[in-house]
Amino acid sequence: MKSLLLTLVVIEVFCIVHLVQPQNQDGFISLDCGLSVDESPYIDPDSGLVFTSDSTLIQTGKSGRVDKAFDKEHIKPYLVMRYFPEGLRNCYTLNVTRDTTYFIGAMFLYGNYDGLNTYPNFDLYLGPNKWESIDLDRETNVTGVDMIHTPRSSSLEICLVKTGETLPIISSIEIRPFRNDVYGPGPGFGSLSSNFRMFFNDSYRDIRYPHDIHDRIWAPYFPEYDWRIINTNLSISNTGVYDTPKLALGTAATPSNKSLPLEISWYTTPPTVAVYLYLHFAEIQALRANETREFDIFFNGSSNISAFSPPKLEQHTLTLPPVLCPGGICTLRLVRTKKSTLPPLINAMEGFNIIEFPSTETNPSDVAAIKNIKDTYRLTQISWQGDPCIPPDYTWDHLECDYKEKSSPPRVVILDLSNNNLTGEVPKYLAKMKSLLVIRFTYAEVTSMTNNFQRVLGEGGFGVVYHGLLNGTEEVAIKLLSHSSAQGYKQFKAEVELLLRVHHINLVNLVGYCDEGDNLGLLYEYMPNGDLKQHLSGKRGGSVMSWKTRLIIAVDSAQGLEYLHTGCKPAMVHRDVKSSNILLDENFQAKLADFGLSRSFPTANETYVSTVVAGTPGYLDPEYYQTNWLTEKSDVYSFGIVLLEVISNRPIIAHAREKTHIVEWIGFMLQKGDVRNIIDPNLGQDYDSGSVWKALELAMSCVNPSSARRPNMSRVVNDLKDCLTYENSRKGGSVDLDSKGSIEVSMNFGTEVIPKAR
Ligand SMILES: *[C@@H]1O[C@H](CO)[C@@H](O)[C@H](O)[C@H]1NC(C)=O
Ligand SMILES: *[C@@H]1O[C@H](CO)[C@@H](O)[C@H](O)[C@H]1NC(C)=O
Ligand SMILES: *[C@@H]1O[C@H](CO)[C@@H](O)[C@H](O)[C@H]1NC(C)=O
Ligand SMILES: *[C@@H]1O[C@H](CO)[C@@H](O)[C@H](O)[C@H]1NC(C)=O
Ligand SMILES: *[C@@H]1O[C@H](CO)[C@@H](O)[C@H](O)[C@H]1NC(C)=O
Ligand SMILES: *[C@@H]1O[C@H](CO)[C@@H](O)[C@H](O)[C@H]1NC(C)=O
Ligand SMILES: *[C@@H]1O[C@H](CO)[C@@H](O)[C@H](O)[C@H]1NC(C)=O
Ligand SMILES: *[C@@H]1O[C@H](CO)[C@@H](O)[C@H](O)[C@H]1NC(C)=O
Ligand SMILES: *[C@@H]1O[C@H](CO)[C@@H](O)[C@H](O)[C@H]1NC(C)=O
Ligand SMILES: *[C@@H]1O[C@H](CO)[C@@H](O)[C@H](O)[C@H]1NC(C)=O
Ligand SMILES: *[C@@H]1O[C@H](CO)[C@@H](O)[C@H](O)[C@H]1NC(C)=O
Ligand SMILES: *[C@@H]1O[C@H](CO)[C@@H](O)[C@H](O)[C@H]1NC(C)=O
Repeated sequence: MKSLLLTLVVIEVFCIVHLVQPQNQDGFISLDCGLSVDESPYIDPDSGLVFTSDSTLIQTGKSGRVDKAFDKEHIKPYLVMRYFPEGLRNCYTLNVTRDTTYFIGAMFLYGNYDGLNTYPNFDLYLGPNKWESIDLDRETNVTGVDMIHTPRSSSLEICLVKTGETLPIISSIEIRPFRNDVYGPGPGFGSLSSNFRMFFNDSYRDIRYPHDIHDRIWAPYFPEYDWRIINTNLSISNTGVYDTPKLALGTAATPSNKSLPLEISWYTTPPTVAVYLYLHFAEIQALRANETREFDIFFNGSSNISAFSPPKLEQHTLTLPPVLCPGGICTLRLVRTKKSTLPPLINAMEGFNIIEFPSTETNPSDVAAIKNIKDTYRLTQISWQGDPCIPPDYTWDHLECDYKEKSSPPRVVILDLSNNNLTGEVPKYLAKMKSLLVIRFTYAEVTSMTNNFQRVLGEGGFGVVYHGLLNGTEEVAIKLLSHSSAQGYKQFKAEVELLLRVHHINLVNLVGYCDEGDNLGLLYEYMPNGDLKQHLSGKRGGSVMSWKTRLIIAVDSAQGLEYLHTGCKPAMVHRDVKSSNILLDENFQAKLADFGLSRSFPTANETYVSTVVAGTPGYLDPEYYQTNWLTEKSDVYSFGIVLLEVISNRPIIAHAREKTHIVEWIGFMLQKGDVRNIIDPNLGQDYDSGSVWKALELAMSCVNPSSARRPNMSRVVNDLKDCLTYENSRKGGSVDLDSKGSIEVSMNFGTEVIPKAR
């Protein structure tokens, strides 16, 4: 008997046999993707299936419609589609019942919806795992995928991932629940991707719902020669677990020449994939007393079933163990036994490839927490779709994930909510994310981490900072509050709460804290390059910090401060901005530290908070000191002092100087016209004078005695970035400062209000 080579049978014939009694559609999800809400739902007249719009299940993408030319060939739900002009990964999130087996199908009809006549190709993912590459270029305008999968959580994500220039599209998604114990290699062995599902008949019509109560689509198959189709009008019992449609069982193929075997061959793609076969049989001929039908079944010569006789008018399904077909060519052979008077027969058959889904989803409680945050804050980042951590290439923006533990799911470890409109307290579910940010520590652990408080890093507000090792590897800075600090506990609490609320690349991260009786400790990320003050004073050794580096540090710390002022609601005032609170990580990225004094300040119609004046002498805003009015402009003042330090590298307060306070002194020098002597002599001539000049002008405006005349931090950030641009565009040496007469000193600084040290 001639052997046949089938390629993949893609289900693409949409004609349906006549309607029978409508069936229960419980658990079906039938989405006509891109359908407008006004037209949803509708009943497909051929199948009786109720299709709905996909608009509530995905936040992104746009509706498109195939060119009218395709209307003749295709019907709903394939006429409209959703396409995705934005983002790399766009995902549907569907509610399913966990640990239930589903048929999951999707169809893609391009139909020149965009008039570009360019067939899209892209990847389809199921959760974190790649399902299939969709290449409409190779297909006959339309393609479909279909798999059997058992979700392990109650939501299922189907994602379209852009892989090239073309935009992903999708026409329909159909999800049907099935009994758990029927298909598949069993739990933990991957899912099944449908290769083909066919019945044997010489016709053109698919069989699907309602004839197949699970809405599997069965395509007719009949080779041109050497086969014969037999059929029956009698009813066939299909009460087994497979529920193969009676219509599909009612016809069968046999070889025309009774002595020859029935052979079916096909290719697998990729050739290395294991194949699962489900063979559906029923005897549909009335056999006489002296007739028998009996045959052996060979699949790759290894899965032999001997002397099989299909039961009379009753479905019997044989499943074969998975087989790797040599060279990707599979051959199924049904061979008549010696005693058989009739040739072999087959009614219907399904072939699947096993697809492995190796990537585990991110820890479910982390996913739940992050999704809560997304919903609460209505975050609309285009990347916040699909699994937060997997695949690593598509990790959500602003998240960092930990993949170290290969055997367990990835965890979300950092959530950076900078530049988002967040209001209110940190949500409770954030605190539930144990791996995120905050760990609780005992005093004994802290003692051990710091090796009995061996290495002092410095003195912070209200306590000493020690070096420690977390789990013996990760370096941390641990601030222990001194027992005598009366204000300590309040400050400590303020700092923990603030650090829990704010996360920004230019703010020092809290790693954890210890709150055990008298022992209060804060664990921060370790900043190996110390603080800005140490660098300016030369205490850290090394070469002189260049003007460019100083500017970058200034921009970074200004951004941290800007975030406190405008990125948080209610906004925060740091209240202790100073050069020793600007810390530097291994890449010299600046982060603002020491939030112990921070307070939130009201916006809108309340104008100030009356507080006990707190801060560091020299950096303290004189207006705040005199009035007790706390506004964010007090931080601007302190930041201006930091800028003056960065420019001049002079002490803030020097009693031996003509003018004690740095603001007075620089004002005095400017009035004398002695600009050059303001600038840190260590810089030599190695700077763009326009850049330094602009920074100086900015610094002086920040320390304006009137808070109303100080710029806000957004302005400061912008101006500093301009300074950096000047410096970056500098070619060769600097221009002589004195010759830059075109830049006017336009600031208005006073020397009458002198900040007093407390
Ligand atoms: C999915 O389930 C969640 C939680 O049970 C529910 O809030 C949501 O409305 C459901 N979505 C749909 C489309 O049914
Ligand atoms: C695909 O669409 C084009 C444009 O309408 C048409 O010319 C072509 O025949 C279609 N191909 C198939 C296989 O339907
Ligand atoms: C099988 O094919 C015959 C001939 O084309 C057709 O009349 C019949 O309806 C088909 N049966 C099924 C179940 O498709
Ligand atoms: C089934 O019924 C049709 C029409 O009644 C008839 O032409 C056909 O021969 C029958 N087929 C069998 C196998 O009895
Ligand atoms: C059927 O196949 C056998 C074995 O190949 C052959 O001898 C016989 O001639 C064939 N019969 C017909 C009718 O072709
Ligand atoms: C079976 O019996 C019938 C008569 O009842 C006869 O015509 C036929 O040839 C027999 N078939 C075989 C294979 O012996
Ligand atoms: C299957 O049948 C082939 C051919 O008869 C034989 O060589 C092979 O050993 C059989 N395999 C099994 C697993 O029975
Ligand atoms: C399939 O058959 C080939 C050649 O007979 C053999 O090498 C291979 O191991 C078989 N694979 C399986 C999975 O049975
Ligand atoms: C913040 O809110 C404003 C106004 O509601 C909006 O224009 C802006 O896009 C939002 N920013 C982000 C990052 O969501
Ligand atoms: C690090 O140490 C903490 C506290 O001792 C522990 O809870 C955590 O699991 C450890 N993490 C790793 C990655 O070992
Ligand atoms: C401003 O004050 C009024 C009266 O005290 C109050 O009703 C209103 O909510 C306040 N507006 C804001 C934005 O706080
Ligand atoms: C900051 O000041 C600039 C003018 O210098 C103004 O345009 C901007 O709206 C201010 N930003 C905030 C958040 O107040």
